Amino acid sequence: MERTLVLVKPDGVQRGLIGEIIIRLERRGFRLVGMKFLQMSEGLAQKHYGEHEGKDFYPGLIAYITSGPVVAMVWEGDQAISLVRKIMGETKPSASPPGSIRGDFAIDVRRNIVHGSAKESDADREINLFFRPDELVNWSRDVDRWVFSGE
Ligand SMILES: Nc1ncnc2c1ncn2[C@@H]1O[C@H](COP(=O)(O)OP(=O)(O)OP(=O)(O)O)[C@@H](O)[C@H]1O
Ligand SMILES: [Mg+2]
Repeated sequence: MERTLVLVKPDGVQRGLIGEIIIRLERRGFRLVGMKFLQMSEGLAQKHYGEHEGKDFYPGLIAYITSGPVVAMVWEGDQAISLVRKIMGETKPSASPPGSIRGDFAIDVRRNIVHGSAKESDADREINLFFRPDELVNWSRDVDRWVFSGE
C-alpha cells in the first residue's frame, strides 16, 4: 500500500470544492488516514515546493499556496501515488481530460485546485512536512476486501 499527500489548494477551498475532491478519492476506493485544515506559512510553502525554487513562476506559486487555507490529507491504497495523480489530471488544466479534477474544474495552471505527491520519495517527505506520525490513523475498513485483492 502507498500513501500520498493531497492538498485542496486555496482556490479549491474558496470555490467550495473540498467535498468534490474528497468524494472522488473516497469513491475510487482510497482510504483517508489523515486530514487537517490550515493556512500554509511561507516556510512550509518553500519546503513543500523547494524543487521549483529559482523558476520564474516560483514567487507566484508561493504567494498562491499561502494565500488562504488549504486542506491537507493523506490517502492510502494500492498505487495511491500514481492513481491520485491520474484522478487530478495534468499540471496544466488545459491539458487535463474531462473527468479529471483539473479537467472538470480548472483552466489556469496557476489555479489548478489540487496537489498530489509525484513519487514515493516526495510522498514521504511531504507527508512528514504536514503530519506528525501520531496524526495519521492506521485503520482498516470492512469493505477493503472488496476494493483491494491483497495481491
Ligand atoms: N509553467 C508554469 N507556470 C506557472 N505555474 C506553474 C508552471 N508549472 C507549474 N506551475 C505551478 O507550480 C505547481 C507545481 O508544479 P509541478 O511541476 O510540481 O506540477 P504538479 O506536480 O502537477 O503540481 P503540484 O505539485 O501542485 O501537485 C503547479 O501545480 C502549478 O500551480
Ligand atoms: Mg508537483
